[in-house]
Amino acid sequence: MEVLSNIASGKAHGKIILIGEHSVVHNEPAIAIPFTSANVEVTIEKLYGETTIESIYHTGKIKDAPVELNNLIETLKAVCDYFDTSIENLHITINSNIPAERGMGSSAAVATALVRALFHTFETDLSDELLYQFVSISENIAHGNPSGLDAKVVSSTDSIFYVKNKNADFFKLDLPGYLVVADTGQKGATGEAVTDVGRLVADRKTGAKQLVSGLGDLANQARRFIETKDLERLGEILDQAQNNLRQLTVSNDKLDFLIRTAKDNGALGAKLTGGGRGGCMIALVDKADRAQQLTEAFLEAGASKTWIHPLGENINVK
Ligand code: MEV
Repeated sequence: MEVLSNIASGKAHGKIILIGEHSVVHNEPAIAIPFTSANVEVTIEKLYGETTIESIYHTGKIKDAPVELNNLIETLKAVCDYFDTSIENLHITINSNIPAERGMGSSAAVATALVRALFHTFETDLSDELLYQFVSISENIAHGNPSGLDAKVVSSTDSIFYVKNKNADFFKLDLPGYLVVADTGQKGATGEAVTDVGRLVADRKTGAKQLVSGLGDLANQARRFIETKDLERLGEILDQAQNNLRQLTVSNDKLDFLIRTAKDNGALGAKLTGGGRGGCMIALVDKADRAQQLTEAFLEAGASKTWIHPLGENINVK
């Protein structure tokens, strides 16, 4: 247990949805990958007095915190209720390099690190199931109608094939390729996009229901091509998924531009990742030098940040 004198800490990391964002909310399968290059640590010091927080959104007493922190404060209250204690006497510090509101699971990761740090503070073991229940409190406030995918993957070191309320198959992803991730620099709008897609799906005339079930079929095919390590076919699947996501109105001009840049620079497939309408996109490539070249092309095309994520255990970034 990580209790250093009277300081406890909890960690979590970001996530990348390979395929299945939005459709996963409508009970279709999705595949997500832990993104350990972006991570968060929450530390908690026991002090006497009103609980305070240090974060990018607010530094000071939690009673003065802005609405952006409501999800975390409600989670804090729920954990303190669980321990039958008041929410006083804590100093909480959030250190995160996961870009916020970019589809990388920042809200779920920060909530996960907070809950882990609180359980360390109270020197109690935390089961995966209980962690998930607490993080879901936060995710419900942050996103309205979350599928639960983010909450599962930000606390796991394995990738996941996930169907809402049904199954979460964890597996070790091992492919001879790389994902290049680019941040548009624009905040995404996950909650709003999820609501809009829900409305489109509810209206039979729009054809959105077919697009969503098409995304489910693509996720099943992606799983097969991961198993057979067929990068080219996997790339084609990612392109088709982007096409459906665009028709579901969750892409935008900057995402489309970066996706075109990826294809012009030899990516096998490219799509947005996460809630869309801003945030991040991913491109699949087979070689380290192509991945490097792509990061340069993305930065030239206006990306605010890029990452290279190896998909196999034995391949490294050049
Ligand atoms: C957000 O990271 C992914 C969405 O599918 C929403 C969800 O799964 O809750 C857009």
